[in-house]
Amino acid sequence: MPATVVVGAQWGDEGKGKIVDLLAQQSDVVCRYQGGPNAGHTIIVGDETWKLRQMPSGVVSGTTSVIGAGCVVDPQVFVDEVDLLIERGIDPAIVTLSGNAHLIMPWHVTIDQASERRLGNLQIGTTRRGIGPAYADKASRIGIRVQDVLDPKILRQKIEIALAEKNLWLERIYEVEGFDLEEVWARYAGFAERLAPFVGDVSLLVDRALRDGQRVLFEGAQATMLDLDHGTYPFVTSSNPVASGAATGIGIGPTRIDRVLGVSKAYVTRVGEGPFPSEIEGPDQERLRELGGEFGTVTGRNRRCGWLDLVALRYAVRVNGITSLALTKLDVLSAFAELPVCVRYRLRDGSETEHFPAHQSDFHRARPVWEVKAGWQQGLDGASTVADLPRAAREYVEFVASELEVPIELVGVGADRDRVLA
Ligand code: IMP
Repeated sequence: MPATVVVGAQWGDEGKGKIVDLLAQQSDVVCRYQGGPNAGHTIIVGDETWKLRQMPSGVVSGTTSVIGAGCVVDPQVFVDEVDLLIERGIDPAIVTLSGNAHLIMPWHVTIDQASERRLGNLQIGTTRRGIGPAYADKASRIGIRVQDVLDPKILRQKIEIALAEKNLWLERIYEVEGFDLEEVWARYAGFAERLAPFVGDVSLLVDRALRDGQRVLFEGAQATMLDLDHGTYPFVTSSNPVASGAATGIGIGPTRIDRVLGVSKAYVTRVGEGPFPSEIEGPDQERLRELGGEFGTVTGRNRRCGWLDLVALRYAVRVNGITSLALTKLDVLSAFAELPVCVRYRLRDGSETEHFPAHQSDFHRARPVWEVKAGWQQGLDGASTVADLPRAAREYVEFVASELEVPIELVGVGADRDRVLA
């Protein structure tokens, strides 16, 4: 099965980085197909912790890694991560960056921050890294792409066109200072030398790899419920993390994808605003946050915690075509005597459904219907195969698989790279 997409099945932070790192060791190419430095992938290898925002997690194992056209790139973050690779003894030549990816410009970050401030109570809770404004400019066709940096004249012209509009917005609507053309131009033209060696034809590279029978991994950032089209809009990111986004984001046909591995925590977390039916009420929320270390990699924010939501997961299986699941952080549940699982939603008319509501108002008012599973209340450190897990832990995993009708291929039982049971 040469082409596998790894996709977050919840609201992000499912531990995809670790799963990708594991699979990358048996892959020839790892691809990031959407998103930008809003992602925060934490990978622990021995006593070394990697926190990546822009690069595919494959770089940690030295695998050929590509950043596709569907991504937005903060050149400073990219260059910093190149330096990190060099510092840790990994040749950055393994990285190829699509010239068609869009650049995050300084005004994108300022607009992201100013727009969140202006929304007040209605804010989305973005990572404030300029992601939404960069994708908005891409759709409006006034974005600036990686390849533009390579030609100073084109770069200057594009910055000038963008600034003519952005400075008006910044000064008149958001009442913040605008940007100086010469300064921005000089700074971005300065990235040319650092970016140029990495710019390449990602679509062709991946096509060739697939034709040669190589194993290609497509790494989704963020997750299904944050998908611009299929997530909980407007509390979403501005790209398409769903598995089909891998085809458009890299530039291959959808028929090339063989397998979709969904990654889900054994419970749920969410950062940012928006409805969250299985969010825990009471002290267990704080307890789960502490036990799971549920604080954002990028922003350090507290993640909201909930019990596993099978309605949302069933939806993720559908919209991604998930063929198997990785269930991560099962060990975090070890402390609890009882484990509620949300098996259906109760809608405002009193009816119950196991399918994710298509209408936002139904979702906003949905209440969880729980089925309470027995906890195992012992550590999972001793388990080196699924068969070693305590009976209640095995039953929990089997319950999820049978409810979703999807095999669970991997189970995460600890932070380290090797604490994933097949
Ligand atoms: P943006 O992607 O910065 O525009 O943020 C939009 C929404 O996506 C917010 O709710 C963020 O908290 C969420 N988000 C973006 N990236 C991640 C991530 O890597 N993990 C979890 N949530 C994320």
